[in-house]
Amino acid sequence: MERRTFGELATPNQRLIKIARAAVMNAYAPYSGFAVGAAVRTRTGGIYSGANLENAAYGVGMCAEVGAITAANSAGDYEITTIAVVGLKFTSPKDATRVVTPCGRCRQLIFEAGEITRADVTIFSCSGDLAEIRQSTISEMLPEAFGPANLGLREIWPTLRAELARSVQDLEAVDADVSIALER
Ligand code: THU
Repeated sequence: MERRTFGELATPNQRLIKIARAAVMNAYAPYSGFAVGAAVRTRTGGIYSGANLENAAYGVGMCAEVGAITAANSAGDYEITTIAVVGLKFTSPKDATRVVTPCGRCRQLIFEAGEITRADVTIFSCSGDLAEIRQSTISEMLPEAFGPANLGLREIWPTLRAELARSVQDLEAVDADVSIALER
């Protein structure tokens, strides 16, 4: 982990952090009063953001990182290299000075994204005021992680993904009505 100041970061990383902070605005956090934004950057340079989404059934709430990672996946642009996380307590007592690091579940999700990308994903954990920024890698944050390799499946996804694409194309080929509806 290295401490950084916003000013010393490269422009693309400053941009990612700013997008994560802008996403804080989209949080639905009536229960904790703690709003989090996250933004991921992919190998293609794509950027996807997310915000935490709470629920009256507390346990089903979702972290901002889940939203950002899911947005990248849903766009078919899943090769994540970098993630920025920013949060603040916006109810009394307000506090935007504390760094937000990804929770354990999110570290597991980030690790697997990195396995697919074959990258040790970089994580910028930031306080809401951006006065404190910590730069880490997922291997530092989740050492000895359990992943696809433990299941002997590290190599399998590119092949399976191609199989998935073929399966969907086959469906489209036999169902002209659905293809037309999508094109409209
Ligand atoms: N939260 C995140 O969205 N990301 C983190 O890295 C830490 C925690 C959310 C979950 C919950 O909605 C609120 O912050 C308080 O825990």
